[in-house]
Amino acid sequence: MEIGIIGAGTMGSGIAQVAAQNGHQVILVDSMENALSKSKSELQFSLKRLEEKGRITEQQSSEIQNNIIYSTEITSLRNSKLVIEAIIEKLEVKHQLLYELESVVSDNCIIASNTSSIPIASLGSILSNSKRIIGIHFFNPAPVMPLVEIIPSVQTSSVVLEKSIQILKDWGKVVVVCKDTPGFIVNRVARPFYGEALRIYEEGKADFSTIDWAITEFGGFKMGPFTLMDYIGNDINYSVTESIFEAFYFDPRFKPSFTQRRHVEAGFYGRKSGRGYYDYSEGAIEVFPSKDEVLGKAIFERILVMLINEAIDAVFMQVATPEDIDLAMTKGVNYPKGLLKWADEMGLEKILNKLDELFHEYGEDRYRPNPLLRKMVREKRSFF
Ligand SMILES: NC(=O)c1ccc[n+]([C@@H]2O[C@H](COP(=O)([O-])OP(=O)(O)OC[C@H]3O[C@@H](n4cnc5c(N)ncnc54)[C@H](O)[C@@H]3O)[C@@H](O)[C@H]2O)c1
Repeated sequence: MEIGIIGAGTMGSGIAQVAAQNGHQVILVDSMENALSKSKSELQFSLKRLEEKGRITEQQSSEIQNNIIYSTEITSLRNSKLVIEAIIEKLEVKHQLLYELESVVSDNCIIASNTSSIPIASLGSILSNSKRIIGIHFFNPAPVMPLVEIIPSVQTSSVVLEKSIQILKDWGKVVVVCKDTPGFIVNRVARPFYGEALRIYEEGKADFSTIDWAITEFGGFKMGPFTLMDYIGNDINYSVTESIFEAFYFDPRFKPSFTQRRHVEAGFYGRKSGRGYYDYSEGAIEVFPSKDEVLGKAIFERILVMLINEAIDAVFMQVATPEDIDLAMTKGVNYPKGLLKWADEMGLEKILNKLDELFHEYGEDRYRPNPLLRKMVREKRSFF
């Protein structure tokens, strides 16, 4: 089966590699010739490294490279049975592209988008056969991260959904299905990891390195929130938070933080700009956390219950199943444990009490315990 990918940037190139590794003929299209040549040489480089590490043979490497055809012409996608677009995150540009694409491909071609924030329903609205639209959301880097979120919209047919799931499973991906709602699973459920950490800092309870220490030490996360935001880039992370806040009709649970905004305004993007919450310049003075165990545990617990409350809300609002939500957080963003499994282990009553305590203390809507949590405590139920 021939697969078309549009956009040869970070994501499109990675997705093309995944499809080519699985034996497909891949047509990778980009409007910029130099994006294609960069993509080609980067693939060569990363396959060479895999060869050196003994993960693939020289023959496999050349097969993968031979499976990809690079083109600036959208018309080269005429025989593709699945086309995944991964171009810039702008609705008008994606609409224009999908409109042109539909006139090129066959009637039974599935048209998918790798968008992180644009509703799939809105992308599908430009197609004359909108039953073929679907969200197929990979994580960066696509060849390494196992998770793929599949997002059927109100228009998507069940055949398109089933076929898409099967293709991604055949590619060895961990597939979760979620509703066409802002942030899908991962980008929604993960918000408190950053937001609550920023809030704790803003209240003067602890500095960045202490909060990072608390999360890695007591939670077993690979990175604390501030280290992670510096990796992702504060500009990117802030704009995701802002777009989710707006998309949720300004629900205070997702309110962005002034601290992060000021860091963005100052150009403190993180590693890529040499300065974020931490200083990455040569000779920078290393900062050390204050390793107060009581404080550290309290910080970790507050962030964890907020994450769990968000995961429970995703179940409550039928965004995805508890199994898929836990898979998404462990396979998409490497959480040490699924949040709902964690909730069961901690005890739902303890989580409810902690959230009630925060809610009474602050009187803010962001701390309201989810109704499903309350109900499950009343009925003495657990998730698994
Ligand atoms: N970067 C991530 O971590 C990440 C993760 C998941 C999803 N996404 C989503 O994937 C998509 C692509 O993101 P990216 O980071 O790979 O972007 P990118 O900027 O690295 O690449 C985009 C590519 O699209 C090309 N392009 C733009 N308009 C085009 C058009 N009309 N026709 C053909 N090619 C066109 C550009 O030349 C560029 O090469 C976005 O929708 C983004 O939201 C990104």
